[in-house]
Amino acid sequence: MGRDVIIACDFDSAEKTFAFLDKFTERKPFVKIGMELYYAEGPAIVRELKARGHKIFLDLKLHDIPNTVKKSMAVLSRLDVDMTNLHAAGTINMMKGAIEGLTRPDGTRPILIAVTQLTSTDQESMEKDLLINKPMAEVVMHYAENAKIAGLDGVVCSPLEAGKVHERCGKDFITVTPGVRFADGDIGDQKRVMTPAEARKIGSDYIVVGRPITAAEDPVAAYNRCVKEFIGE
Ligand code: C5P
Repeated sequence: MGRDVIIACDFDSAEKTFAFLDKFTERKPFVKIGMELYYAEGPAIVRELKARGHKIFLDLKLHDIPNTVKKSMAVLSRLDVDMTNLHAAGTINMMKGAIEGLTRPDGTRPILIAVTQLTSTDQESMEKDLLINKPMAEVVMHYAENAKIAGLDGVVCSPLEAGKVHERCGKDFITVTPGVRFADGDIGDQKRVMTPAEARKIGSDYIVVGRPITAAEDPVAAYNRCVKEFIGE
């Protein structure tokens, strides 16, 4: 399992996505396809990007009864994505169902990671809306441990949590971290950010970077800078 930079392709059409990715003529980046692009273009976008040589993190955050998640994961696995995810809040049983569904007849499967608590959920809304009366850090770690018990490969978390997750769940438990910004860049609406070099130091396995690359004047240069800082190539 290698460290890598994943570009969040937060576009609303295949056309815009291809126009952006056509700029990358050398290294084909690992890309994240989220709900917006997937719901706009369907599975065809995954097949097309695979055919163009990209690795794909399909970020659809499944959360339903175990049987439905199992069957849906089987479909995503046949699409040959490299990484996908779900909500740990769906319980250990749901996560176990997901692993079963994802596993191909030859025993291989995409990397499966869990969302613990969304970063948009704060302590107050977790207590008031969800009736969870524990400190956020404890909830996040508990969900990460549940994901590990269910056999998942890792979690999405803030780069600031990555070290702690590795401490609790082991070095090989993958941390995928958004909220990455260049030291001299705009932080936009992200609150807790880290540079690619800091994310590397703290032990993130994959960083998910959107606007610092997609909105850059020279996206290829911004991507290369990320790779250099994070992977050292
Ligand atoms: O543009 P930016 O670098 O902020 O994009 C980060 C990407 O990571 C977006 O696709 C966003 O939805 C996603 N993400 C995040 N924070 C989370 C989970 C996912 O920013 N906690």
